[in-house]
Amino acid sequence: MPEIIIIPMKKFTTVKDVDDLKELLSLAQKVKQNPFDYQEMGRNKTLGLLFFNPSLRTRLSTQKAAINLGMNVMVMNLNNDGWSIELEDGTVMNEGTQEHIKEAAGVISQYCDIIGVRTFASLTDKIDDYDEVILNKFIDYATVPVVSLESATLHPLQSFADVITIDENKTKPKPKVVLTWAPHPKALPQAVANSFVEWINETDVELVITSPKGFDLSSQFTKGVEINHNQNEALAAADFVYAKNWSSYNDYGKIGTELDDWTITKEKMKLTNNAKFMHCLPVRRNVVVSDEVIDSKNSLVLEQANNRTYAAQTILLKMLQHKSCHSD
Ligand code: CP
Repeated sequence: MPEIIIIPMKKFTTVKDVDDLKELLSLAQKVKQNPFDYQEMGRNKTLGLLFFNPSLRTRLSTQKAAINLGMNVMVMNLNNDGWSIELEDGTVMNEGTQEHIKEAAGVISQYCDIIGVRTFASLTDKIDDYDEVILNKFIDYATVPVVSLESATLHPLQSFADVITIDENKTKPKPKVVLTWAPHPKALPQAVANSFVEWINETDVELVITSPKGFDLSSQFTKGVEINHNQNEALAAADFVYAKNWSSYNDYGKIGTELDDWTITKEKMKLTNNAKFMHCLPVRRNVVVSDEVIDSKNSLVLEQANNRTYAAQTILLKMLQHKSCHSD
């Protein structure tokens, strides 16, 4: 095992849980270069991955990350395979819910050394979503480190992978990064966009957010960031274009209709500085982005997905250092 000092981490839900992003990026580079160098650290440790919602990348890349670290992994789709979870304290549980989150988190903590939780926004109750009720209750009642696999408002493992990807592909010290809203037929959470803004703001870039009027993100994330409701203007001279749909924050959960002209096309990319194209995936082709853009040599979507493994592995490595993880 290489000689490195890793600062322990108890929870990973936001960039605010990161002491030093430069240190985290440097550790991620080391992990990516030699992914199997840390196998002793995860020996006889178990990661539990709990999904309230579907996933391809998060599920597989986080499992791969744990396997690279020598860990065992258990995965459970809580919505389909578990008991229905009660979140409120003091409830008389004589209706639909069968298991209180206190017992669920306590029990899972006995089986696992680290717990990952994916729990999307309801998009019906803005206050509960932005209070992160489910994730925070898991953190409160778990006795081991908890990693967010995407919560109601943030997706930190995705954003960390995105920051790694931009760091690897930038050709100037301070690139222009444009986060652009794109069309989508269904209501999606704001989590990826909020999180991207939160993380990229901690790095040295020129960030511009562009969205149609009525689709501004919460000011808790965008304070101080340039916002331009004219997509063509925003894209000018961009070095990176990050496309993502999100439903309205102000008119909570509302989708944008008749906004097809926000799709990222070859013509739109011509406005940029030969920009790299980014998206977290899954993506609806020819709705969010045209085939010719996502299939072009400037598309980084597969690199982003690849970096999900190293982002997750870096965070798990830091959690393995936490004292509550030393269960044996
Ligand atoms: N980007 C992302 O989180 O993908 P999944 O929803 O497939 O995990």
